[in-house]
Amino acid sequence: MISKYSVTVAGRETVAAGVVALTLATADGSELPRWRPGAHIDVTLPTGPTRQYSLCGDPADRSSWRIAVLLEQPSRGGSAWIHDHATVGTPLTVSAPRNLFELEPAKSYVFVAGGVGITPLLPMITDAERTGTPWALWYGGRSRSSMAFADDLVPFGDRVHLMAGERIPLSEALGTPGDGVAVYCCGPESMISAVEAACDAWQPGTLHVERFVSDGAPVTGSTGFDVHCAQSGVDVRVEEGTSVLDALLAAGVEADYSCTQGFCGTCETPVLEGVPDHRDEYLDHSGTPDTMMICVSRSRCPKLVLDI
Ligand code: FES
Repeated sequence: MISKYSVTVAGRETVAAGVVALTLATADGSELPRWRPGAHIDVTLPTGPTRQYSLCGDPADRSSWRIAVLLEQPSRGGSAWIHDHATVGTPLTVSAPRNLFELEPAKSYVFVAGGVGITPLLPMITDAERTGTPWALWYGGRSRSSMAFADDLVPFGDRVHLMAGERIPLSEALGTPGDGVAVYCCGPESMISAVEAACDAWQPGTLHVERFVSDGAPVTGSTGFDVHCAQSGVDVRVEEGTSVLDALLAAGVEADYSCTQGFCGTCETPVLEGVPDHRDEYLDHSGTPDTMMICVSRSRCPKLVLDI
């Protein structure tokens, strides 16, 4: 189970057109858990939804966390609520930091950001500065006014390439494959796909990406199955055209979720009986996971028993 923390909004700042940065701290001033560059937290809104945001402050600062929230157009409710209601003093429930985008030691780094995808890369730059590791940042956005934290990056001089309204020239940004170079990319799917294609011939493990947008993972199947919820005692039928998560929510079973596409890990649920058909990108499928991502994974047998 993921640990949850009660925090309050200790600061709010508009950092670009449509982007607010929130500073989160505990009400009693106690220290927050440690985290590493690339980590994100789940923010559970008072209205119910859970949304993920990268931590973009200084990992050495245990007194507060910082996130930046882009107002999505259209918003599914999460970013609009934060923009409209999260002001100084607003209480929020957040998860412990989790890291699916860990900064590995390297001889040098190339950071590639698109839009609000800059957020997880900021602590990576801080870390590279601390360790004296050479780095370069290529940061694209629709316009300079939409590029959060762009002014904070100017002092780094020619290591930072701000591409306002321009495509990032990937062949120049990525150069030729070099030993010990690590590429970290976060941004819209189109950018990540282009960087993946450009790095295709590089050593495996060179490129690290973080997706906020789905790859279109399938959530439906050709057969239905039954699910028994051991904690709540509820039985549900998961029909062909729906997911376990949606079936449970429709039956009134409480379940955490965020991406609904099998890559964030929020909906991870222990499996007590049955054989899941894993379709997520989060779990290590080389062993036999005893949990499943109920937003996308299905069943290889007529019935699953879940610890929920
Ligand atoms: Fe993200 Fe299921 S909600 S993996």
